[in-house]
Amino acid sequence: MTNKSSEGGLSYKNLNIELDQSVSRKILRYQPSDDTYLMLDSLARYRGKSALEIGIGSGVILRELSKRFSVVVGTDIDYAALSFCNQSNDVKADLVCCDGAKALATSQKYDLIVGNPPYLPFDDNDIFDRTIYGGITGSETAIEFLKSAICLLSQHGAILILLSSLSSLSQFYREVALLGLSRRTISRKKLFFETLLVEEISFFHQQVHNR
Ligand SMILES: C[S@@+](CC[C@H](N)C(=O)[O-])C[C@H]1O[C@@H](n2cnc3c(N)ncnc32)[C@H](O)[C@@H]1O
Repeated sequence: MTNKSSEGGLSYKNLNIELDQSVSRKILRYQPSDDTYLMLDSLARYRGKSALEIGIGSGVILRELSKRFSVVVGTDIDYAALSFCNQSNDVKADLVCCDGAKALATSQKYDLIVGNPPYLPFDDNDIFDRTIYGGITGSETAIEFLKSAICLLSQHGAILILLSSLSSLSQFYREVALLGLSRRTISRKKLFFETLLVEEISFFHQQVHNR
């Protein structure tokens, strides 16, 4: 899916991803993967003024958002990820180290909020790694991302959350319904061992893309 460019960066479809892997592998715990690229494909249809990414990792998604939106903010709980993105000249975004989006002022609303949370169910025998484990069922971090994002969403905006069939989708869907939100699956990718999905969540039962 991705190719190594001559400079040691990445390219994906027509996107030139400026990520020096020799550097990023030393600093980052999470390298761009199939989930990252599915989210990149999915957000291409959205327009607006302001965008927020929760859990920026390498900043590949944030970089794309900063080309499409004039106000862009990214958060991560991992300071190393923020520091890595801060040193990248082509990421034009405000970066905040916090849990979900909990530290952000609710006076600023976002037209698009995206999150590719860790989604693997936690195996007790392993060490808890926040970049890959999403809690006991795998959906807990996704739900936390969503809950922290709602008060930041503009009235006609959309939240995109990436999920996997390896985590409890029913738990996530139940939570969306309890919060009184609308959702639909906008992208799906079947891999050998799992299916990745991107869920669009909004206040309304209507299509919110192409704004
Ligand atoms: C699966 S990686 C995705 C990284 C990047 N967005 C991508 O698509 O390649 C999940 C990211 O979420 C961050 N993260 C995990 N738990 C978090 C939390 N509670 N609040 C903010 N960020 C979190 C991790 O540090 C990691 O960078």
